[in-house]
Amino acid sequence: MIQLIRGFKDILPNEIELWKHIEQTAMMLFESFGFRQIRIPVLEKAELFQRSIGEHTDIVEKEMYTFPTSKGELITLRPEATASVVRSYIQQRLYAKDPIQKLYTIGPMFRKERPQKGRYRQFYQINAEAFGVSSPYMDAQLIFMLTVFFQRLSITGLKVHLNSLGCPACRPAFKRALSEMLMERSDALCSECIRRRGTNPLRVLDCKVPGCQEVVKNAPAITDYLCEDCARHFDEVKASLGRMDIPYEVSPRLVRGLDYYTRTAFEIQTDELGAQNAVAGGGRYDNLVEALGGPSQPAIGFAIGLDRLVDLALTKTRVPELPPDIFIAAMGEAARQKAFEWSCELGREGVKTEVDFSSRSLKALMKRANRLGAGHVLIVGDQELDQGTAILRNMRTKAQAQIEISGILSGIKGQLRAASDRQPYEDGQTNTPKPKT
Ligand code: HAM
Repeated sequence: MIQLIRGFKDILPNEIELWKHIEQTAMMLFESFGFRQIRIPVLEKAELFQRSIGEHTDIVEKEMYTFPTSKGELITLRPEATASVVRSYIQQRLYAKDPIQKLYTIGPMFRKERPQKGRYRQFYQINAEAFGVSSPYMDAQLIFMLTVFFQRLSITGLKVHLNSLGCPACRPAFKRALSEMLMERSDALCSECIRRRGTNPLRVLDCKVPGCQEVVKNAPAITDYLCEDCARHFDEVKASLGRMDIPYEVSPRLVRGLDYYTRTAFEIQTDELGAQNAVAGGGRYDNLVEALGGPSQPAIGFAIGLDRLVDLALTKTRVPELPPDIFIAAMGEAARQKAFEWSCELGREGVKTEVDFSSRSLKALMKRANRLGAGHVLIVGDQELDQGTAILRNMRTKAQAQIEISGILSGIKGQLRAASDRQPYEDGQTNTPKPKT
């Protein structure tokens, strides 16, 4: 049998309700904060990621799925979405209409990382990117929106780690200080970090090798090197988070694995997922639009790791169940023909309908209706058809009613509506979506 590729996975129908619920929660919330959806391709030119994420990052050095086209051009399965959203903002001249664009996108990303729990080679992200606003209120509002998102999913125990990575004016001094310190401790660094020390010393702060982590504990803090403008921006982000009662922790060693960040960088972490503890991450990238050939426009965004979030949500988030409103149990060929017609009509009108076209016994059909959690079962046999009636059984109250076959569709819809009015869920939702009349 042909098996899945390592690091890739199937998401099965019984898991999908949770995925959908999470995605819909994000869409509704983000839209109420003025974000609009954008869909971007999964394949882009390799150069886009090399120039935005940075040549000397793990993603670009080792993790991209890159291959040549028949014309020899290198193309890459996107390892993240930010670069593509920026490319689209520039290429489609979204800024020309209004430089302030708030965009979100949901979809798969690809990184050739070593697979383990919470780390896949195809994984899913929800991204939100806000262009054209340099105000620290925007930074705080994005983090606020993220925390509301997790609250809506009843995900608790998360921590917001916050840092500022400065700007091209102040970061070089920090890099020099870090590089010098790393030089003195070369003996304790892994071979990769000895190389990184010269090419991209910030990446050493991310290294997971215990020896390097020990060294990094005594590294200078970037927050001590911020220029006046960056320091003020960072102070205002923190004050704004405070104003909205968002707890956060300043983590001066949080540098994130991508080179495009300036100023604010943040990560939402959990203690409940083991090593892969980041559920979301993001930050400002005020120079990226211009660096990729666009106008000088600031931007900030984040990505939520859906796979990890689903793992957390499994035990915490209550997904509204949507069992069939009605199950049609038909016995006999003439009854099955009617069941076919009614199920088509009910489905067309948005009534969640399940029907079994096989010639099984009533007992077997009722068992299946029960297993599916159907709210009602319409029981009809050839004999009932002759009499012009069928039986509608409310599976919760066990009450049965005779229902006339002439005008049966409006009869069913009336009964379902009456039952759903009587049985609201605790949160005010009803199980049965109101059929359109
Ligand atoms: P990132 O930190 O590389 O940032 O990824 C964001 C989130 O995606 C991580 O916190 C994690 O939850 C999830 N993630 C990353 N790699 C994997 C993996 N191999 N398997 C499962 N989940 C994973 C970015 O991608 C930036 N583009 C975020 C951003 C948007 N910054 C500004 N705008």
